[in-house]
Amino acid sequence: MAQKSRLVVVSNRVPSPSEVSPEEGRSVPVGGLVSAVRPAMEKVGGLWLGWSGKSAGGPPQTTPDVTSLGNIELATLNLSSNDVSLFYTGFANRTLWPLLHSFTEHVVIRRDTYRAYRRINRRFAEALFPMLRDGDQVLVNDFHLFHVGEELRDLGWKGKIGFFLHVPFPPSDIFSILPWSPDILRGLVSYDLVGLHTEGYRRNLAETLESEIGGAVRDWDYFGEDGSTRLGVYHVGIDMGVFAEPAVADVDALATELSLPSSPEHQMILGVDRLDYTKGIPTRLRAFRRMLEHRPATRGKVSLVQISSPSRTRVPEYQTEKVAVDQLVGEINGQFSEAGWTPIRYLYRSYPQRELACFYSLADVCMVTPLRDGMNLVAKEFVASQGDTPGVLLLSRFCGAASSMTDAIIVNPYDVDGTAEATYRALRMSSTERRERWCSLARVIRQHTENSWSDAFHSDLAGV
Ligand code: F6P
Repeated sequence: MAQKSRLVVVSNRVPSPSEVSPEEGRSVPVGGLVSAVRPAMEKVGGLWLGWSGKSAGGPPQTTPDVTSLGNIELATLNLSSNDVSLFYTGFANRTLWPLLHSFTEHVVIRRDTYRAYRRINRRFAEALFPMLRDGDQVLVNDFHLFHVGEELRDLGWKGKIGFFLHVPFPPSDIFSILPWSPDILRGLVSYDLVGLHTEGYRRNLAETLESEIGGAVRDWDYFGEDGSTRLGVYHVGIDMGVFAEPAVADVDALATELSLPSSPEHQMILGVDRLDYTKGIPTRLRAFRRMLEHRPATRGKVSLVQISSPSRTRVPEYQTEKVAVDQLVGEINGQFSEAGWTPIRYLYRSYPQRELACFYSLADVCMVTPLRDGMNLVAKEFVASQGDTPGVLLLSRFCGAASSMTDAIIVNPYDVDGTAEATYRALRMSSTERRERWCSLARVIRQHTENSWSDAFHSDLAGV
């Protein structure tokens, strides 16, 4: 009987049983990538290689530590603190992250960080290669590991390799800012299949390949000197069951514990993000302030609960962003607070899924207003958590989710006045319109489930 091929996943972050980040010293959710990949791995099992999240002294670790997490064989590598600083904090988070999100003013170009990036990509490939078996399907994830496919080929791996980018791909004139853009693009076309979140990102990648390294894209395939690569679009989804409307008792308990407004006359707006400059938290706060200024009737009646989970705290741009957010929250609360009402409840911490579902269920409006975002699963989680009287989703046109969740109220987050007015409109929306919009959004989520994107990706990879 033919054996089904084993799924092998490679990513920088991996699921951690304790979900404790050594960086932040607190319990954190492991981010969009792990939420997207984990359900497929749990369903079929397989091998998952990534960074342990730890930095260790001594010689570089070449043989991974292996543990099991259910039916997942989890293989992890420690990195030295110098590697973490050059590869992860440096090239991944200060060069590629801003570049791919079109924040060119934040892009740092340094030769030493790119050298470390190539070195660590090679190390991941060298650690993985001896663990591979004939017939394995390898899926490399995200911008930390663009070169792993090419390095595996160099080591002699002949099997299928796919790559999925969990963040946007920018227009070619932005990507070409990077002195090593041709090198990275050649790494990308060594994969059999490259997956992106949206058709827009796919188009950007196709144009960038043609203009930076030549070759041609026809229909779904890139044809270059060394062969072809399929470029596909896959909508990452969530498991609606996990975020289904939480129990009333749990919601009430959370509202009481945090003294959240729970009376029916009081309305709550919610924001949930990693504290990242791409998420547009300051512009969201400004839009909220503008609404309080222009619509005085909302004062005392509407609160914004902003959850910001600490992220990449060693990166200077994130430290600056935190100062900006802290300051704005202070200014707005100082300007508008009244006895018994604080306009913004700012929670700088992470919450487990179960508690997030309670926040979602309490919210009348959820503001998902990133300046740029690959997909954004918060938008989907919010919709999944709504019950009979659903809240309204305000969604930035600049995130991948907006390409399918068209019945949200779509906003341009750079337009503070427009976002303020859209928020006011969302707060006043009739229950009939709320329900109609929610039904349509829930249909989209049911269509793109937590497993459908990976099923489609792996069947395409098997077919190329
Ligand atoms: O979604 C993009 C991403 O970089 C993922 O790769 C990662 O899981 C998440 O953001 C959180 O970032 P980090 O791994 O740097 O904490």
